[in-house]
Amino acid sequence: MRRLTWSDVTPKPIWLNRRQLMTGAATLLATPALARLDPEPTPSRYSTTEAPNALEDITAYNNFYEFGTGKGDPAEYAGAMKTDPWSIVIDGLVDRPGTYDLADVMKGQPLEERIYRLRCVEAWSMVVPWIGFELAGLLNRVGVQSGAKFVAFETLARPEEMPGQASPFIEWPYREGLRLDEAMHPLTILATGLYGEAMPNQNGAPIRLVVPWKYGFKSIKSIVRISLVDKMPPTTWNMLQPSEYGFYSNVNPKVDHPRWSQASERRIGAGLFGGRQDTLMFNGYEAEVAGLYVGQDLTVDF
Ligand code: MTE
Repeated sequence: MRRLTWSDVTPKPIWLNRRQLMTGAATLLATPALARLDPEPTPSRYSTTEAPNALEDITAYNNFYEFGTGKGDPAEYAGAMKTDPWSIVIDGLVDRPGTYDLADVMKGQPLEERIYRLRCVEAWSMVVPWIGFELAGLLNRVGVQSGAKFVAFETLARPEEMPGQASPFIEWPYREGLRLDEAMHPLTILATGLYGEAMPNQNGAPIRLVVPWKYGFKSIKSIVRISLVDKMPPTTWNMLQPSEYGFYSNVNPKVDHPRWSQASERRIGAGLFGGRQDTLMFNGYEAEVAGLYVGQDLTVDF
C-alpha cells in the first residue's frame, strides 16, 4: 500500500531543493533528477508565501492529547501508534457508506502541497507545508445525501497505544465537526503528509483534517470515522468547556477567549524577541471564507 506517491523516495534536502527550483517551471523540467518523481503533489494556489517552520518545530511542539498534555509528549510517545493497516468508517447520510481502507480513501484524489498557517487557540502559530487533498473530493465520491448538514469526525481510540487516553479529562474518542459547506470548501483538506514525507505520528498519521481558517483544535488527527449527519455534532473542546470553545472556532482577533486575547499570536521558531504578530481575521483566509458566514453574528457563533 502506498500512502504517498513520492514522499518515500524524496528525502527532505531534495524537497527543499525542489521548492527553490519550482519558482521556474523551465528549470524544473530541465532537471533530470526531478523528472523521475512521478507523480508528485502539485503546488497549490492556496499556499501562503510565508516561510514554513522548520521540520523540528512542526514535529516536536504538538498538541495530541491522546499522548499527553505536554508539547513534547506526542513526539515522545506517538511512535507506539500503529498506523498500518488503517481504515476509515464513512457512514450516516451517504450513498456509499462503508469501511474504506486508507489507500481507497486516497484513490483518485489529487495530492497537493498546501502551505498553510496553523493558528492554535493558545495564541501561537506555525506555517506547515502539508501534503493532502480536498475533503470535498472524498465526500463527493461517497455521495452526500440531501439531508446531511454537518460532518462529524473521530480519532482513533486505542488506549494500549495512547497513554493519554488513560486520563478521563477528555471523553474519548477525540471528536470534531464542520458544517457541510465548511467541509466542502476547497481550503479544507485531509492531509497525509508534510514536508514531502508521510505524516509523522505526532502530527496525526496517517490522515488528519486541516481547516486553516479555524483554531488548530478543529484539525482533528488520526481520523478513523467520518459521519454525515443532520444535526450539529458534539465536539471535544465544546463538550469540555462550551463557554470557551464554540462549535465554529473560526480564528477571530476580535473575539477573545474568555481567559486571554486572540488579537495577536507568537510564531513558533521566530526567536524570543521576534515573532509576535497580529492575528488576521479567519487566519488570513478572509477573502476565501468570509462568505460562508454572511448573516451570522460571529460573537454568538464563535
Ligand atoms: N487531534 C486529536 N485527535 N487530538 C488532539 O489533542 N489537538 C488539536 C489538533 N488536533 C488534537 C488534535 C490542537 S489543539 C492543535 S493546535 C492541532 O491538532 C495541532 O496540530 P500539530 O501538532 O500538527 O501542530
